[in-house]
Amino acid sequence: MANMIVVGTQWGDEGKGKLIDILTEFADMVVRFQGGANAGHTLEVDGKQLITHLVPSGLLHEGKRIAIGPGVVLDPETLVSEIELAGEHGMLERGNEFLLSHRAHVVMPYHRALDAARESAKGKSKIGTTLRGIGPCLEDKVARTGIRVSDMIDKDILRRKLDARLPELNALLVHYGAEPVTAEDILPRQNELAEKIAPFVADVGEIVRKEMERGRSVLFEGAQGTLLDIDHGTYPFVTSSNTVSAAACTSVGFGPGKIDAVVGVTKAYTTRVGSGPFPTELDDADGQHLQKKGGEFGATTGRPRRCGWLDAVALRYTLALNGCTSLCLTKLDVLSGMEKIKVAVAYRLDGEEIHSLPADSQAIERIEPVYEEVDGWQEDIQEIREKDALPKPVLHYIKWLESLLNLPIDIVSVGPGRGETLMVQNPFRRG
Ligand code: IMP
Repeated sequence: MANMIVVGTQWGDEGKGKLIDILTEFADMVVRFQGGANAGHTLEVDGKQLITHLVPSGLLHEGKRIAIGPGVVLDPETLVSEIELAGEHGMLERGNEFLLSHRAHVVMPYHRALDAARESAKGKSKIGTTLRGIGPCLEDKVARTGIRVSDMIDKDILRRKLDARLPELNALLVHYGAEPVTAEDILPRQNELAEKIAPFVADVGEIVRKEMERGRSVLFEGAQGTLLDIDHGTYPFVTSSNTVSAAACTSVGFGPGKIDAVVGVTKAYTTRVGSGPFPTELDDADGQHLQKKGGEFGATTGRPRRCGWLDAVALRYTLALNGCTSLCLTKLDVLSGMEKIKVAVAYRLDGEEIHSLPADSQAIERIEPVYEEVDGWQEDIQEIREKDALPKPVLHYIKWLESLLNLPIDIVSVGPGRGETLMVQNPFRRG
């Protein structure tokens, strides 16, 4: 069997949730490895929508170990409501085991307050964060002033850590014109939440290493997308964690040699929520088509997503960053009804043609994409289940992308439902 990492190759919202749900069938354990409640997985089950932010979307299966790894920043309010939601879906009755790393950092109410206060102080230059306190929580982690799950479930330690952290934190809140907080404000609710999460706390890294030793298959679920990576993304308009595949190794705690396959999830066009450069962004009828037909509204914030053409320059960069072994192409059905379909194959920057994404966000803002285009198709493809049954222009588009990106497309998604999927090759078997 094989171990696999699934990552988003754009700015998030590529449809990783649905893919993880499908691939979980072939894995023994699913581990979410970074991000926090800033992510949102939209799943469609029996025609109903199910949105999760923290619990991996493997929750709908049977007999799986489903874990939140040490690198995730965990909002206990969101987690508890998702554990309850998972309970409603019978997750724990179907022999699934839910595990929560004792090393994961906890998002406290003051992290959310600081995130919101900073964003409003930034005005026009705001990052457009999800306001879930992700940045401030990860700052505390790196500053060694964070609160981990193991601290949270011990009332005395939690009290001591809050007393140590709050004076400086309050100075920051006051600086931004927000209300300071006291340990008394926070403790009753946090202690209540701690009792609810305590039964799930475990040494997730150790369990993963043991599973690997026993030859069982582990699926690592990334959140956000590679262009939001703190080191490699469109800084400063990024999230505060590493979203690349290698983050699974560093955050969960195992060697890179254990990984057999890295699947990159790519939407058939591009979207972005929040601020920051977006070279192929559309402000015309094609953009409106993608927005409307794709239902492009953020799963976490409900904000309309910015839409644009696929960007092969940025994709070649992110596929290389992740060491992707194959691709999953999602939302291909959304392109039905378009006259022509464009893909950026190069950029023009200050009069020169370039073939890589500049590091500087201001330079990325000045980029003009160089497009190539193919004929679109009018047919609805949502009911099609075999690759060969796809209309000719669709097959041509898929082949064109494979050659532009130099990677095979193993899975094609043609609708939100689990069944609306064409598995050309099972990426687990490729590994
Ligand atoms: P933060 O992660 O809330 O700090 O937000 C930083 C940036 O990442 C903002 O542009 C957010 O819109 C974006 N972001 C964070 N999580 C997601 C996600 O799951 N999908 C898409 N964008 C995200």
